[in-house]
Amino acid sequence: MRPRHIPSILQFTKTIWLQAAECWREKQHTAVVVDGTVGNGHDTLFLAELVGERGHVYGFDVQESGLANAQERLETAQVAEHATLFHAGHETVADKLPEGTLVSGAMYNLGYLPGSDHAVITRARTTIASLQALLPVLMPNGIITVHIYTGHEGGTAEGDEVMAWSKTLSWKEYRVGRYDFPNKEINKEHLLVIEKL
Ligand SMILES: C[S@@+](CC[C@H](N)C(=O)[O-])C[C@H]1O[C@@H](n2cnc3c(N)ncnc32)[C@H](O)[C@@H]1O
Repeated sequence: MRPRHIPSILQFTKTIWLQAAECWREKQHTAVVVDGTVGNGHDTLFLAELVGERGHVYGFDVQESGLANAQERLETAQVAEHATLFHAGHETVADKLPEGTLVSGAMYNLGYLPGSDHAVITRARTTIASLQALLPVLMPNGIITVHIYTGHEGGTAEGDEVMAWSKTLSWKEYRVGRYDFPNKEINKEHLLVIEKL
């Protein structure tokens, strides 16, 4: 039995992004967003469709096989020209974005890529380095969503560190929201949402 009224983390994440896109449309803002963990490109496609004709997605992943799937997915949907995929760790984001780029939002989906090498996981040090590097180029009201999984080895430690890092962000400059299910006992997941003020 699934709940009817409480959104899943995935649904809640999409709601946040759709809300942001509504603001972009109202302000006729050309959105540039980052997909920090491209994997097979499901989220990259969602973002590429969201930013529309004039916007752009910069995607990062360390696994070439996933990136190839993502590229194909974007081409099939005819939005590939609105995305640039880097075979590089997201911790290099500041070096890879074109100079002067301001980012409207970034999405991170942590952990490992299902159906791929489960030993390749995101790690706190590089995840936090990437998040930290994004903050100065995040626009006012720009958002970062971080979906944290704890069901794999290293997942809880990464989640704890990312959460601890988020608590250090100044209340005057950022809001950090959190969405999760306190009574989920195994494979706990959390969504962190950061908005720059
Ligand atoms: C949960 S999966 C992402 C799923 C993806 N969003 C999708 O729609 O298929 C996590 C991804 O993070 C990638 N990853 C691990 N370390 C990374 C790093 N330092 N920089 C960028 N991606 C990394 C993994 O290769 C994996 O594809």
